[in-house]
Amino acid sequence: MTDRNLTVRVSRIERLTPEVAAYELVHPAGRPLPGYTAGAHIDVHLPGGFTRTYSLAQAPDGASPSRYRIGVKREPQGRGGSAALHDRVAQGDLLAIGSPRNTFPLAAQARHHLLLAGGIGLTPLLAMAQQLDRDGGDFTLCVYARSRAHLAFAPELAALGARVRLHFDDRQAPEKIDLRALLGPPAPRPGAHLYLCGPAGFMQASLDAAAHWPQGCVHLEYFAPPQTTVDVEDRPFVLRLAGRGIEVSVAAEQSAVDALHDLGIEVPTSCAQGVCGTCVVRWTGGDPEHRDHCLSATERRSRVALCCVRAKSGLLEIAL
Ligand code: FES
Repeated sequence: MTDRNLTVRVSRIERLTPEVAAYELVHPAGRPLPGYTAGAHIDVHLPGGFTRTYSLAQAPDGASPSRYRIGVKREPQGRGGSAALHDRVAQGDLLAIGSPRNTFPLAAQARHHLLLAGGIGLTPLLAMAQQLDRDGGDFTLCVYARSRAHLAFAPELAALGARVRLHFDDRQAPEKIDLRALLGPPAPRPGAHLYLCGPAGFMQASLDAAAHWPQGCVHLEYFAPPQTTVDVEDRPFVLRLAGRGIEVSVAAEQSAVDALHDLGIEVPTSCAQGVCGTCVVRWTGGDPEHRDHCLSATERRSRVALCCVRAKSGLLEIAL
């Protein structure tokens, strides 16, 4: 089950590169849409029963924005969601979407924001850069693309001026941005925060180069869970629902979401991989073993992603 509390009309489709198209979504009756902050994403329900999570690729045009804009790369080897959007959704169509959620916000305490985008990972970072530009924030946006022809949102990037740096793999860029030179020692400048969004290899290379950055100053948005070579054992545990006064057994091969579903209790999900934040709830007791890739260390003190959390001590109590 997923959050689908809004219906929007596709008011414009714009091809940005051979693989990427931008979709503008508006209220069918022209009414304002729910507000969001830069870095937010929405669930989009697509023909064929697919639900995909896409970042909003522009800073909001007000507290109650008039439109959302997403940028979607067609993934021929993907699971079918992006192909359904590219091939089966036309201008004027209605789509069900969820309300915007933000698990990748700008850090209010940062004095400089270094935004690193790999490929279509540009979408949330473009919104953040536009917001910082509007607010007079100090930022640099580095964009890594295969070539100039593969660079999405080129006019929007040009509008941000010299604070955008472009790197193309085919070496046609005005500069080559070496990750190790950009992020590596000595220590980052005081108050600097780093934001990363891109494919797994790009994320890992960036994290390796930024290994010495202080904890809490590096913010990540994954498309898919990072590859891991470490095998973790899934043990059964008891999920206590504090609000209902009941306990649910979660078997080793089940997620908490599945166990609740078996009891007729539906938890909204989208990625089911700990990436999107749709299933996050507050926890109130026990000892969660977090396996998500969307919650910060601070958020984990009070929140869990139910699609992937386990319990270290065999018990987890949540506010449901
Ligand atoms: S459904 Fe995406 S994090 Fe759980």
